[in-house]
Amino acid sequence: MSLKVVILAAGKGTRMKSAMPKVLHRIADKPMVEHVIDAASDLGANGTILVVGHGADQVRDTVTREVDYVEQTEQLGTGHAVQQAVPLLQPDDTVLVAYGDVPLTKTATLQKLVDDVTDTNLALLTVMMDNPHGYGRIVRDRAGQVLGIVEQKDATGEQLKIREVNTGILAAKGAVLGELLDRIDNNNSQNEYYLTDIFSLAVEQGMTVRTHQPDHEWETSGVNSRVQLAELERIFQLSQAEQLMEAGVTLMDPARIDVRGKLTVGQDSIIDINCVFTGEVSIGENVNIGPNCSVTNATIASGTVIKANTVIEDSVVGENCTLGPFARLRPGAELAEDAHIGNFVEIKKSTISKGSKVNHLSYVGDSTVGEKVNIGAGTITCNYDGVNKHQTVIEDGVFIGSCTQLVAPVRVGKNAVVGAGSTITKTVEPNQLAFTRAALKTVDNWPRPVKKPKPE
Ligand code: UD1
Ligand code: CA
Repeated sequence: MSLKVVILAAGKGTRMKSAMPKVLHRIADKPMVEHVIDAASDLGANGTILVVGHGADQVRDTVTREVDYVEQTEQLGTGHAVQQAVPLLQPDDTVLVAYGDVPLTKTATLQKLVDDVTDTNLALLTVMMDNPHGYGRIVRDRAGQVLGIVEQKDATGEQLKIREVNTGILAAKGAVLGELLDRIDNNNSQNEYYLTDIFSLAVEQGMTVRTHQPDHEWETSGVNSRVQLAELERIFQLSQAEQLMEAGVTLMDPARIDVRGKLTVGQDSIIDINCVFTGEVSIGENVNIGPNCSVTNATIASGTVIKANTVIEDSVVGENCTLGPFARLRPGAELAEDAHIGNFVEIKKSTISKGSKVNHLSYVGDSTVGEKVNIGAGTITCNYDGVNKHQTVIEDGVFIGSCTQLVAPVRVGKNAVVGAGSTITKTVEPNQLAFTRAALKTVDNWPRPVKKPKPE
């Protein structure tokens, strides 16, 4: 069976008050329409067709997924929109119709529709609403069979009482869809070509409409305003938080975590409040992450403790490390096991080997640091000469005294010691003590300044 997914994304989204087409607004840092495209690809679709109109070029430029585009230059209705995609459909395709501004439908929900389509069945996703105002109502006969859908603006008083509404999401065979769409007209209160009209036409021909409901109403919620965008963002975040907890992760507050990408976390890890995970992040077991941490495209191995306000980007952290509070790993930081990176320490494009410590107020960039090295407070690698970057190599067992400047390119050999306050500009050989230090001067009985009397 070949499955095609048609995604409607031609609407303007006036209520967003935005220069950007609505479907490009983001949920969890991903354009809404890409959520829908990804659901289609999870279904195993053989093709995805995006119907674009308003901001078509912007949509094409932004969407990174492989899809086919068809343009609906005038928005004459949802039926007209799907019609634009018909030339790209085969008669035998199963076709799913979805919406670029309805981002959170679960793949399992869509699968139920796809599985129910035959040459004589259409499948439709409906929901029961306490307040169905504005939606198309599902009209059924006494036996409960769907007869058709009537839009809010075309409905009778009796029909307006129906609480079962059309989500717009449906599936049908390509041939069936094509034939039915050929027969719809725009003789209705909005003069639009309604996609919904295909159902009554299908029933007249003796076909059956099979309906399904999603597990959660929000799976079918569309976004028309920034308020609704924010509501769906929170719903999506909460559902991701629940998945983490079900996988054995403790969240101090599931309402205060944001996952903007793909996060995997091992059992018995604990994540405190207000942490943001972006891109691909993989966290091992028994990792403890303090409040207000930001982690982007990183791997953090088991047993590591990350204290409050730590920022990690494009980095790899080994087992049983300690980071923070207020540590910063910039792209290319690689920590082996048992490394300690303390407060106000910045590490960039550097390897810190097993058991080494950079505990306070330091910058280590473009460096290779060996095992069991201790880098004292306030140490800086001077890696940039204003034009080029240079490497610093610190071998195993080295002790760097506080407030040292290592002027790269430079090497400190195995087990060497650098005295506090030194500026190291050339190689220190293994086991040497190196220091640069002006002689201490003292002045006896130094007169301390006294405060001037205040004018009267
Ligand atoms: C539609 C349904 C209604 C359903 C509701 C659910 C029809 C006639 N009505 O109504 O039964 O309850 O959705 O939200 O289908 N679009 C295009 N091109 C067009 C028109 C629309 O791409 O010419 C896109 C819009 O961008 C939007 C979606 O289709 O993403 C739905 O269109 P909209 O006009 O909002 O439909 P509703 O009037 O809400
Ligand atoms: Ca409309």
